[in-house]
Amino acid sequence: MSAIQPFDMVLFGGTGDLVMRKLLPALYHQHQDSNLPEQGRILCLGRSQPDHASYLTVAEKAARQYLGSYFKESDWASFASRLVYLKLDAGEKTAYAALAEKLNEFPEHVRVFYLATAPNLFAGICENLAAVGLNKGGSRVVLEKPLGHDLASSQAINAQVGKFFKESQIYRIDHYLGKEAVQNLLALRFSNTFFEPLWRREWISDVQITVTEQVGVEGRGDFYDKAGALRDMVQNHLVQLLCFIAMEPPASADPDAVRDEKLKVLRALRRFGPQEVATKTVRGQYKAGASNGKPAIGYQEEPGISPNSTTETFVALKAEIDTWRWAGVPFYLRTGKRMQDRLAEIVINFRQVPHSIFAMPASTTSNRLVIKLQPDESVRMYLLAKQPGDQMKLKQVHLDLDFDEMFKTRRPDAYERLLTDVIRGRLTLFMRRDELDEAWRWVEPILDAWEQNDETPKQYTAGSWGPAASSALLSRDGFCWHEEG
Ligand code: BG6
Repeated sequence: MSAIQPFDMVLFGGTGDLVMRKLLPALYHQHQDSNLPEQGRILCLGRSQPDHASYLTVAEKAARQYLGSYFKESDWASFASRLVYLKLDAGEKTAYAALAEKLNEFPEHVRVFYLATAPNLFAGICENLAAVGLNKGGSRVVLEKPLGHDLASSQAINAQVGKFFKESQIYRIDHYLGKEAVQNLLALRFSNTFFEPLWRREWISDVQITVTEQVGVEGRGDFYDKAGALRDMVQNHLVQLLCFIAMEPPASADPDAVRDEKLKVLRALRRFGPQEVATKTVRGQYKAGASNGKPAIGYQEEPGISPNSTTETFVALKAEIDTWRWAGVPFYLRTGKRMQDRLAEIVINFRQVPHSIFAMPASTTSNRLVIKLQPDESVRMYLLAKQPGDQMKLKQVHLDLDFDEMFKTRRPDAYERLLTDVIRGRLTLFMRRDELDEAWRWVEPILDAWEQNDETPKQYTAGSWGPAASSALLSRDGFCWHEEG
């Protein structure tokens, strides 16, 4: 892998949760693993800390919390020498001269501006950067989700940012694409011969993509209540996973070769009319129950949530892709908060054998590939085998690949990969503008239909697998969720 060039990484929102919880720990790990060049500075911008010393105190406290046993005094000391705190109001144009002055100490450094702020600040920040010439040359800008609330607002943000930065300078983050396991999907599909001939409607009956969490809204009630699970998880993370599973093999790993193929999938996703929304989507909201053995309050009782909120904390839907490869194969997507388990997995169910000469075990799919992304990373292939004995009795067995076992090395966090990719100038794992537009075009009719429809989300008990309607969505087609069958 090529060495990382000298860089200045500028973190807007430098005192915020994302920086403390994810970005600084990710950069620390890369520093600890000696992957960062000596000339690499991290400029943290914010308003809430008065000076550099007090920022360092706060950052160290957070690092101890989030890095756990990886926190080492000596590594932190050398890492902290990369940090520069600038007290700066991102909306204050005049403040950018000081930033430019600081960055111009090293004009040859790659410049990365990471906007870990509310999206309504993006346009202003980009304009202010451009006003002091910081959008030039090797500068890159990283945009965190949520990028808009719907197609129009997402397009507006992209148009505003696009006035000051070229598309090749814009890195739209979907942190799922930085996960090792998600990249492994590409490796599995496109580096092995035996998946590709089977990876199509002739052999696959249905695909299930599940990303569930045990946590509730975690103090983000204000944001979440306006967003909901469809915008927060489906429009981006689940749709991206679907693209990786459904895309045609790209000609190369070149960013546009990969993103062109993903875009084709997004364009082929069948649009929902109001009737399809009624029959092919389920939205749910958790009520009080238990999570991980502890009592859990319902969504409407969470701080910052209106007691009459109709925001969905769960979505299940049936997506269909109108291509030769996938016609007639349902892709069931499901995500929710306060669910029974924290789980991210992709299940590929293969069709039954055309003619069985043995008695098949009841309700078992003969062959199933389960790619688990979280909490552990594994690939499990289910097969039918003969049970020992004097009868031909079949039993489901599995072949397992556990990546932790196999590689026995630390699996880098998604942000480690993504941050170093930005410095290296690799766009493959970032969303292009047209991909984002297309994902909104697919999701928006669902949002519209839900809004127009008086029906409230179906309640499910915290700690369960979601509302019963989610199981019914599959059973109507003769399928069931992986954990049910
Ligand atoms: C974020 C969502 O994008 O992803 C959160 O805004 C969610 O609501 C999180 O909790 C899940 O990410 P991960 O990596 O923990 O699966």
